[in-house]
Amino acid sequence: MSDPRFINKIIIITGAGGNFGCSGCLFFLRRGARIAALDVDQNTLNETLAELESIATEDSVIAEGTRIKGYICDVTNSSNVDAVVSSIVSDFGRIDMLWNNAGYQGQIKPTLEYDPADFARVMNINVTGMFIVLQSVAKQMSQQKADGETSHPYSIVNTASVAGLRGTPAMVAYSSSKAAVLAMTVSSAKDLAPHGIRVNAISPALIGPGFMWTRQNELHAASGSPYFASNAEDVAKAKIGGVPMKRLGSIEEVIKSVAYLLSDDSSYTTGTNLVIDGGLSSGLKA
Ligand SMILES: NC(=O)c1ccc[n+]([C@@H]2O[C@H](COP(=O)([O-])OP(=O)(O)OC[C@H]3O[C@@H](n4cnc5c(N)ncnc54)[C@H](O)[C@@H]3O)[C@@H](O)[C@H]2O)c1
Ligand SMILES: *[C@@H]1O[C@H](CO)[C@@H](O)[C@H](O)[C@H]1NC(C)=O
Ligand SMILES: *[C@@H]1O[C@H](CO)[C@@H](O)[C@H](O)[C@H]1NC(C)=O
Ligand SMILES: *[C@@H]1O[C@H](CO)[C@@H](O)[C@H](O)[C@H]1NC(C)=O
Repeated sequence: MSDPRFINKIIIITGAGGNFGCSGCLFFLRRGARIAALDVDQNTLNETLAELESIATEDSVIAEGTRIKGYICDVTNSSNVDAVVSSIVSDFGRIDMLWNNAGYQGQIKPTLEYDPADFARVMNINVTGMFIVLQSVAKQMSQQKADGETSHPYSIVNTASVAGLRGTPAMVAYSSSKAAVLAMTVSSAKDLAPHGIRVNAISPALIGPGFMWTRQNELHAASGSPYFASNAEDVAKAKIGGVPMKRLGSIEEVIKSVAYLLSDDSSYTTGTNLVIDGGLSSGLKA
């Protein structure tokens, strides 16, 4: 299943121990990429690496050299991130692509009850942490760029969310953090275009089924917000009812969008946000 867009490309994926990150590692490894998998949580990172090991030995995987390596990395700690980026360069030789995906959802509570300390934690991981990784990797990419080279061989994708476009109730910190990610994407895309780097965002919503989907509905049901029913099944039904396509999206559908933005298929696209939500947030903004 090799894919010329990704053969021997070196891709960093943060939040690699999570749902999206683990699926992304598998997807790109199968297509011939070489993966640096980063997470702060050793246990979930190990689970991802265990899945990847079995794939990496398949004959169909044709990448050369180190195919996958895991790195424990706290994205909020800039000296930690810089050290990990240096290790990646010494292990793999260079960096081609970054999926900046690590995140923390925070509490599900209406604004009046939301804990300011948790708000700060969400902003620290989802905004500052994303920036720290983006900057550290972009410095390396800009050094790789040859003098006078005018193409844009490097690509970064930031995981945002539909929550950042429309302000989900009972998720004030998360929504604020994802709106900041969208502004960061546009601003950094402008700053990094002269350095041969494209930067785009994805905004998924209603991805499932699975643990995250179920858990989210339970938390919304328990939030006490009048915008949500008080049991998880009704919350789920109402959410799907609001989607023009009347179904959930799959993680595979999220990853294919990431693949489009990371690859040269989107070579003239930077500073944009690709929404993956079955039409949920579509419409003119008055
Ligand atoms: N699942 C969805 O439906 C959905 C929808 C919209 C947006 N998103 C976004 O997609 C991204 C991934 O979601 P997911 O469902 O895979 O979540 P997840 O919780 O399964 O994975 C997130 C990963 O990030 C890691 N992480 C947290 N803090 C970190 C830190 N300081 N340093 C390094 N790693 C850290 C966690 O350990 C975890 O492995 C998130 O940014 C989320 O906001 C998800
Ligand atoms: C993760 O895997 C490494 C290498 O196999 C091992 O040394 C470590 O103990 C594991 N950690 C956890 C928390 O499972
Ligand atoms: C940040 O990372 C550095 C380098 O990995 C480490 O020495 C330091 O203890 C970390 N700081 C915190 C607050 O975790
Ligand atoms: C933080 O980012 C993660 C991963 O992108 C996401 O799952 C989570 O919802 C975000 N949390 C907030 C509060 O934005």
